[in-house]
Amino acid sequence: MKFKRNELSLYIYLVTVVGLALLIIWTVNIDISWETGKAFLFWATLVFIAELFSVSLPYGGSVTLAFPIIYATLITQGPVMGVWVVSCGALTELKKGKNADVKKILFNCGQFTISVSGAWLAYKYTGGMVIRSPDAAHIVPLICAATSYFVLNSFIVSTVVALEKKSSVFDMWSNNFRWAMPNYLAQTPLGFLMAMVYYQISWWAVTFIMFPLFVVYWAYKLYMDMRKEHLSVIQALATAVEARDPYTEKHSQRMANYATETARELGCSIYNAEVIRYAAILHDIGKIGVSDTILSKDDSFSKEDWNKIRRHSTIGGEILSQVGGSFTEVSRIVYHHHERYNGSGYPAKIQGESIPLGSRIIAVVDAYDAMTSHRPYREALSKEKAIKELKKHAGTQFDGKVVEAFLKVLKRDAT
Ligand SMILES: [Fe+2]
Repeated sequence: MKFKRNELSLYIYLVTVVGLALLIIWTVNIDISWETGKAFLFWATLVFIAELFSVSLPYGGSVTLAFPIIYATLITQGPVMGVWVVSCGALTELKKGKNADVKKILFNCGQFTISVSGAWLAYKYTGGMVIRSPDAAHIVPLICAATSYFVLNSFIVSTVVALEKKSSVFDMWSNNFRWAMPNYLAQTPLGFLMAMVYYQISWWAVTFIMFPLFVVYWAYKLYMDMRKEHLSVIQALATAVEARDPYTEKHSQRMANYATETARELGCSIYNAEVIRYAAILHDIGKIGVSDTILSKDDSFSKEDWNKIRRHSTIGGEILSQVGGSFTEVSRIVYHHHERYNGSGYPAKIQGESIPLGSRIIAVVDAYDAMTSHRPYREALSKEKAIKELKKHAGTQFDGKVVEAFLKVLKRDAT
């Protein structure tokens, strides 16, 4: 399901209004006493600190350390304090000073309140109650509360990011949050432990449990930093290849953008589009195995030169297969990126749908970029002439569906 731009404002408005309405409804039952005041100050401070340690997710949104603290507040203090404590977490946006976005604060306040309210209802209707000692705790409601909070929170955030990026909600959730689910659920016992320590020992003992939480934060951060570095290494490799071939400068970057957009246009998930992006950046890495004399030739290539150049897709596939993991598919795409839809390409001479989709996409985008770029032995073709060539060879050299999707991407980029 894809959304239009104006639906984003409507959704933000709806979540804010529903969340704030719930906040008011819960507050009607507020119990103000010295004890609840102290508890509120303590849990709200912890949530505020935890929200300051956020890790940005690759496709938008972020994760923080606040979940176990919110959970502990909810099961020991009930929903009224739960929604107020969690709303304090939304105030961390104020750290931006003048640049703080009031709309974002209200939206976060709304989405947190909805998530906590849903978690409390799931907890209560599975037999849970406000607990202050381990004897009153029951496993089923405790699990239901944690799962409901995670599902509501992650889907509300995924929807707003999907609306912003004009993507599908489930795809966004699957790529941004699914991997975090075990991590969230693993934090649930920490939340329970915090709650019990608060009542069985003292408030200061709860701060000890913040230490393993910071370890979780560093694990999140490390994973995201490594992901960024991974992409930089890939880009550096592609730049190294381009440095040897002056006529293909910035070629891999253009390829990566067009290939990713075409993959998304064809309905690929964010993950698969990213695999195709990596393959597009590295598709000509096998040129490392082709001599400089051939690559920098200004005149036409001999049959022997072509045979050597054609080896680059096999060499590229072999180099990338050494990486393993998700690069097994990247290596397969690179290996086949010069196959033709009718089976007249190389190296395996496979045809039609048996050619990996990523390779079929790269074949189209690569041909378009090569035709519209200047070469020493010919002038660059106009955009119109290059499109005409792609259409002419759709169904023979190229996959017709891919050509159609790529032309849509080109049209969209031109407007
Ligand atoms: Fe190539």
